[in-house]
Amino acid sequence: MNHSLVADDAIDFDPFSAEFHDDPQAVYRRLRDDAPVYHSARYGFWALSRYADVVPGMKDFDTFSSGRGITLEQVLAPEPPEQRIPMIIMMDPPEHTRMRKLVSAVFTPRAIAGLEPMIRETVRAFAERLRGDSFDVVADYSNLFPIEVITTMLGVPPEDRQQLRQWLAIPLEREPGQMGMSEAGRAATQASTGYYAALIAERRARPLDDMISRLIEVEVDREAGAATRLTDREILGFISLLAGAGAETVAKLLGSAAVLFGAHPEQWRALRADRSLLAGAFEEVLRYEGPVQYDVRYTLRDVELHGRTIPAHSPVLMLLAAATRDPRSIPEAERFDITRAFSGNNLGFGYGIHRCLGAALARMEGRIGLDAMLDAMPEFTVDPSGLRRSRETSVAGWTHVPVRVG
Ligand code: HEM
Repeated sequence: MNHSLVADDAIDFDPFSAEFHDDPQAVYRRLRDDAPVYHSARYGFWALSRYADVVPGMKDFDTFSSGRGITLEQVLAPEPPEQRIPMIIMMDPPEHTRMRKLVSAVFTPRAIAGLEPMIRETVRAFAERLRGDSFDVVADYSNLFPIEVITTMLGVPPEDRQQLRQWLAIPLEREPGQMGMSEAGRAATQASTGYYAALIAERRARPLDDMISRLIEVEVDREAGAATRLTDREILGFISLLAGAGAETVAKLLGSAAVLFGAHPEQWRALRADRSLLAGAFEEVLRYEGPVQYDVRYTLRDVELHGRTIPAHSPVLMLLAAATRDPRSIPEAERFDITRAFSGNNLGFGYGIHRCLGAALARMEGRIGLDAMLDAMPEFTVDPSGLRRSRETSVAGWTHVPVRVG
């Protein structure tokens, strides 16, 4: 029996439409309530939105594969995944297990903790721009510093870092209704890939104390007993992913934080008065309006759920941002509350074997970034006329959040 209360076409869930970007939660609510297993005839995807369905789905990599990619465009692409630059986020076990072990070796909690002084200094330098009584939290600040942090770790010379940020943003941009990457997006991807390839070649010739040099050195067990080093393409895939996954997300999270706290000034005041609440504030912004809205998976077998069958070889949107606001599993899920004691899984960083590798780094950047905002804008209002949503694939947030201080 089909437990969906309405036919699929009664709900217009178009993840590439302006309506969706303007208010994703409105459609998530309908999906969770009326169509927990939703099928989009227009794009050919399925979508899961309830916490109790998304959590086991994200864990079950034998059924829900990452091997074809994690965006709809990638999963639907006719191009065989082998031709892509290899990225850990698009691997299934056992390949993923080996690669995750290896990159975890250069991404240890100790290594991340050691970055704190560099992150504080980077944030301080960019927070200098938050002077005067009005500025744009995203364009003047949160969009600029996370790329500095990640490219500093990688070993990119200072003068090239902001160029890499610009190259990163272009491939993610979408016009309403556009699923695939634009020509400009492809050109920007090629430019950054070429840049990183040249940098890897330089570090092979003359290693420095940076992450690219360490990735060149590290050994990976491919088959029983045979350890080899990473190839240039594997290093390229990993560092492109880090730059992509590590910059946009933190930038978006802090912009969303400004909008949320603008609407909840009493919680901003509480945070200013007690900065030990920063960690909880980060988690709540991530839960309530996390930058990654969904991860896409590809079914390797038929899946029976709520009386429907998702056939094998189908793309499935795991709607993380819908699941983290599911009142069936999270008490008062629609309430933004930085003091919330939430004992479940904050799906903002994903769940299961692909859970965000950079979570500790993102938390550190987020806390330090929010801390600097508390000093620069102790009391503020958001100027609603200047707010601009980003229209990126999978990612939600703002490109412009103008505020007035005082
Ligand atoms: C607030 C900031 C961030 C958010 C919301 C976020 C979110 C996510 C999510 C949802 C996934 C799971 C993807 C999937 O299951 O398909 C993921 C994976 C990943 N993230 Fe993050 N991320 C953030 C910051 C970072 C940072 C700072 C880095 C590193 C510099 C990073 C590196 C990665 C990597 C390498 C993976 C792939 C892990 C794997 O496939 O095993 N992320 N992230």
